[in-house]
Amino acid sequence: MLVSSRSFDEYRAMFALSDDDLAQRVLDCPGGAASFVAQAGARGVDAVAVDPLYGQERDVLGALAQREIEHKHADVAAGARDFVWDWFGTPERYTRLRAESARAFTADIAARPDRYVAGALPHLPFPDRSFDLVLSSHLLFSYGAQLGEDFHLSALIELVRVARREVRLFPVVLHTSDERYPALDRLRNALDALGVPSRLDRVGYAFQPGGDEVLVLDTAAPGPLPATRPGADARDPVRWRHLRAPSGFSAR
Ligand SMILES: C[S@@+](CC[C@H](N)C(=O)[O-])C[C@H]1O[C@@H](n2cnc3c(N)ncnc32)[C@H](O)[C@@H]1O
Repeated sequence: MLVSSRSFDEYRAMFALSDDDLAQRVLDCPGGAASFVAQAGARGVDAVAVDPLYGQERDVLGALAQREIEHKHADVAAGARDFVWDWFGTPERYTRLRAESARAFTADIAARPDRYVAGALPHLPFPDRSFDLVLSSHLLFSYGAQLGEDFHLSALIELVRVARREVRLFPVVLHTSDERYPALDRLRNALDALGVPSRLDRVGYAFQPGGDEVLVLDTAAPGPLPATRPGADARDPVRWRHLRAPSGFSAR
């Protein structure tokens, strides 16, 4: 898996964020090296990011993201016809925007470290209903070939637990095949049974073919969430390749 660094503008497009949405307290889970919190903070938005990499790896994360961007540029340019270019325009602009985003992230995590909290699904270090809006980009569904259905359900329930109004997840297609995550309907039915209705909205952003839908969970009035969450012990089985820090990087 990549540690990626999408920008505030990408988040706004992926999640169809309105000014009203951004007037609320927002959680970005997982934040990775995205600049959403940095750029939202500069606009006065009360936003926090959580990611397991904000523990030991936080000081090298920006550099790792820059390295990934350089590696990925060649792949994206060579396979350009496999992607949708309406939003980015060209591979060069894609790479430039991602690099700017990684730089904004690096500066902000140093300047406002309290905005970047170490934590991992399916157990987040926040009290119930701590955020109005929870955004989740490019982990659940996207890594559905690696993360099992039990993990997805536990993670979704955990995101619901910390959200007062809505959880939005993008995209709902696998990054490996551009196919919709196969158990999506089953997971939506399970959430519905817990008093969490959901809908799929089309948005004005896609990079993967068919990847232009956001899943919106309405968390305004959930029923009691299971005390022992289904699959709560499910482990995240992905061994993130960026956790193998290259020589020359130190974690602290
Ligand atoms: C592809 S990146 C997406 C980052 C950011 N949302 C973006 O769109 O640029 C996926 C992130 O998920 C994080 N991650 C991996 N396992 C996780 C877990 N169990 N809970 C929360 N985040 C996790 C990784 O550390 C990585 O930063």
